[in-house]
Amino acid sequence: MRERRTATKRRYLVCPPEYFEVRYAINPWMTSEEPVDSALALRQWETLVSVYRELGHDVEMMTPVAGLPDMVFAANSALVLGGRVFGAHFLAPERRPESGHYRAWFESAGFEVGTPAHICEGEGDFTPVGWLLLAGTGFRTLPQAHQEAQEFFGVPTVGLRLVDPLFYHLDTALFALDDNNVAYYPGAFSPGSQRVLKSLFPDAVIATAQDAKCFGLNSLSDGRHVVIAQDAAGLIAALTDRGYRPVPVDLSEFRKAGGGVKCCTQEIRTQ
Ligand code: ARG
Repeated sequence: MRERRTATKRRYLVCPPEYFEVRYAINPWMTSEEPVDSALALRQWETLVSVYRELGHDVEMMTPVAGLPDMVFAANSALVLGGRVFGAHFLAPERRPESGHYRAWFESAGFEVGTPAHICEGEGDFTPVGWLLLAGTGFRTLPQAHQEAQEFFGVPTVGLRLVDPLFYHLDTALFALDDNNVAYYPGAFSPGSQRVLKSLFPDAVIATAQDAKCFGLNSLSDGRHVVIAQDAAGLIAALTDRGYRPVPVDLSEFRKAGGGVKCCTQEIRTQ
């Protein structure tokens, strides 16, 4: 019998793609011959936001800044747990100015913001799953930042090594389904990290390379509904089978910059 899944209301922070474009290449996706269709990108992003609202979640908006084309990827700006914000320290010089703008937003919203000393790209590489914090490294966030996050939040932090440049952030290869389980693509991880994931989550939903390549793992679950890239057909079927409700969306324009649903969304966890 299929398990009945329960949704919990979430609070998200997003940033309109007003200045979104592909102007530099800091991951292998950013080489598309085709330029970004700005009008389409805006429509796709607006649909994403209305999906969140229809699901009953709160959505807050950041003001975009000219000259920061990747600022739409709000997930990278911080990790927010228990109402405390661990900010970002971007690897790419092009993205560094984003962190000050996000810090200012969090401070004006009343949050205390910690600044990492080491390279650290927020929820791009940090995924909380219940009482654990999964932390990616290999391309962006450094293991020293995992240690910093563990000290900052006091949450057991499990480092995972990413090995495929197509999956340069943890959130391109894994997402939390609820407080106990995840979906992931094993091929994105080192053999040792694959074993860690297998022992922590023996019942995980395993995605194929094909689903991962269409950003199917860059998804957002509220415990029941999973907002997911519409092309990730295999994963959509597997999630349905496990009792989740996939909500497919099309973010094709953002894929040109190496981003998807989760990248565009920062979760504000106040508990
Ligand atoms: N162009 C951006 C970068 O490479 C994309 C970030 C996507 N965000 C994410 N959470 N994976 O930094």
